[in-house]
Amino acid sequence: MATITETAPLSTVPLIPTSKADYEYRGPSKVKFDPKIHLNYSPPSKSYTFADLGVPPNGTSDFAVCEPFQLATDAAVLELRRELLQKNTVERRMHWWHRSPACLRGFTVEESPFTHAFWTSPEVIAIIESLTGIEMEISLPYEIGHTNVQVGARGREGIKDLKLKPEPVPSGWVEEEGEFHKVPVDNWHTDSFPYSIVMMMSDTEKMVGGQTAVRLPDDSMLKLRGTTIGSAIFIQGRHLPHAALRAWNTGERITQTCPYRAKHPALRDDTEITNSLQLSYLNELHGQFSKERFLVLKKKCDYMIERLDKAKKEAKEREPDNYDAVIMDNDEVGDMMREMIWYLQVAMQQMGMDPKEGKQGL
Ligand SMILES: [Fe+2]
Repeated sequence: MATITETAPLSTVPLIPTSKADYEYRGPSKVKFDPKIHLNYSPPSKSYTFADLGVPPNGTSDFAVCEPFQLATDAAVLELRRELLQKNTVERRMHWWHRSPACLRGFTVEESPFTHAFWTSPEVIAIIESLTGIEMEISLPYEIGHTNVQVGARGREGIKDLKLKPEPVPSGWVEEEGEFHKVPVDNWHTDSFPYSIVMMMSDTEKMVGGQTAVRLPDDSMLKLRGTTIGSAIFIQGRHLPHAALRAWNTGERITQTCPYRAKHPALRDDTEITNSLQLSYLNELHGQFSKERFLVLKKKCDYMIERLDKAKKEAKEREPDNYDAVIMDNDEVGDMMREMIWYLQVAMQQMGMDPKEGKQGL
């Protein structure tokens, strides 16, 4: 696993940018991601395992969710917002459905180079690896920077006018009631992705609510939200029902997310696209999803080939005269083959290629 880079305490981080113009330009960031400037990691006070929460341990690690922790600096959030609130993104990357009034998502690396560099950085990945105790990697590039935006009284139209620099509401501010006044930012669900970071990108000084709520088996709720811009939670959301609650006494509530999966080829990839199908340009989504399926299968094939070669070599050394020496672990091979079939069947079902009607008669 990668090691966590020590970052400077927030108070010594250079304040970038400093000119008014830096708060005006909206578009692909011209700033190169630098972990010393853009990360300010402070570990969570507590992590919960599935056992801690009384939830069946169906994931790829025991890690379920953690208390909020500081992840990014204000300078990083500014660059992320610069790319998020650019004209093209607001006009062409906004999607909505019954669960969520507005998401901005599907940014390409050309549109949002800083966003991609931030979430895919070895330093951010090392942080989540330190929480799960296993190696991690990006789950699906389409989902890098998926952002939930609370919709105010002006509806989705108001999103383009959000300022680059988040600020608390002035004293005496009263929120007008709009169409989505009583609607959660993202209603109850489990994710399509194994693990996600959810990072707060709005000012929280006067914010009330706005947590990520996790529903526990006894129907109680664990409500988690950082108290600063750039604070985050990390969750194995594929196996934990949760919702993004509406925030009050704030002009906005923007949270950006990134999905990750277990990296080791022996571990299952729980990624699917049930939710993404409603919120994506489907040709792009299907192409990326299929490519990821083949990449994971390739990695698993390489791993199993290595395992079989090693077992054969060991058998030859152990029993040179036995022409029928055992050269594979039947359970290991059978489990992997079953997992691979399942993995492809899930993909075919998700993309509307029902395996039962497949050309190969699967
Ligand atoms: Fe979620």
